[in-house]
Amino acid sequence: QELTLKLEMLEKGGFDHFMLKEIYEQPRSIKDCMRGRIYPKEGKVQLGGIKDYTEKLKNIDRIVIIACGTSWHAGLVGEYLIEEYARVPVEVEYASEFRYRNPIISEKDLVIAISQSGETADTMAAIELAKEKGATIFGICNVVGSSIPRITHAGVYTHAGPEIGVASTKAFTAQVTVLTLMALYIAQQRGSIHQGEMVKMLTELDEIPSLVEQCLKSNDTVLAISEKLKDSRNCLFLGRGSGFPVALEGALKLKEISYIHAEGYPAAEMKHGPIALIDEDMPVIFIATKNSSYEKVISNIQEVKARKGKVIAIVTEGDKEVKKMADYVIEIPDTNEAYLPLLATIPLQLLSYHIAVLRGCNVDQPRNLAKSVTVE
Ligand code: G6P
Repeated sequence: QELTLKLEMLEKGGFDHFMLKEIYEQPRSIKDCMRGRIYPKEGKVQLGGIKDYTEKLKNIDRIVIIACGTSWHAGLVGEYLIEEYARVPVEVEYASEFRYRNPIISEKDLVIAISQSGETADTMAAIELAKEKGATIFGICNVVGSSIPRITHAGVYTHAGPEIGVASTKAFTAQVTVLTLMALYIAQQRGSIHQGEMVKMLTELDEIPSLVEQCLKSNDTVLAISEKLKDSRNCLFLGRGSGFPVALEGALKLKEISYIHAEGYPAAEMKHGPIALIDEDMPVIFIATKNSSYEKVISNIQEVKARKGKVIAIVTEGDKEVKKMADYVIEIPDTNEAYLPLLATIPLQLLSYHIAVLRGCNVDQPRNLAKSVTVE
């Protein structure tokens, strides 16, 4: 028994849980996703897995992203990136909804299926349906040789390595990294991005692993905030732009492993419902970094404070304005707005981890959840 325990400790690389180990692996896993694929000086992205589809990419009318769970959140980030840089309209669908509603799909569509395990039943069925209708299907999967990469036409693997914790962490940031590369790759093929901008984007992307490393340094601050939040019954996560999928993912992580009811919302939608819930017992976590929606988010924070809500804000290093209003802030380094999700996600993963541990929950194997859902 002692030996089993020791083995388990070894597997966890000295961390208490797989989830924490996997959170800390992200500087490396993100780097692995970019290795051999980006050439910052030349301003070039190379994706071997989809290189035979360059003509196709020039002629598509639309991209439909299908996925479930956390992978669906990565898809929402992908929507922002692809529309911004490749200028192709994108729709993001839950695979389970897509497969049962006679979707309008043609040969001019590119479907991108995202799945960590490569085995999710709904995603597989959605792929088969889109294939029958003549679409080209790309996969973004983590498990090499799993079912989805075998039924898609082409794809790009995420190189996150095995993910053991049921709640997805490093697989999510790996998916977002690959979607970033895909967005820039499609932009490159379609000529919708200038070479100079490409050089700048890729140079900044290359810095992301070390910025993720810096985000991990917020761990002690996050732990202290977790102590304050651990007895909450509800929690609201708000963000705008690509901060919105980050909010959704933050809420999902918290409810999955700590069993605290949590909801993610676009910050501006708060006034159409969740604002009714705000009182002194309602922590509200804002993605309030310095980007194009900064001023708007500040006014949303004021609305929460006016109702005595407790505000926890993810802010850009050196921020002064939000600090004046928020109860607690967590700083992350400044970066190109396009890469915000890769950084802002990190403290939220740590937050749900610490809250769950403080509540005595089984973080690696939360009740009722499975790592891959191979049934409907
Ligand atoms: C399950 C897992 C989630 C995952 C989702 C989709 O619910 O617990 O972590 O995001 O399935 O799985 P996939 O393997 O297709 O990404």
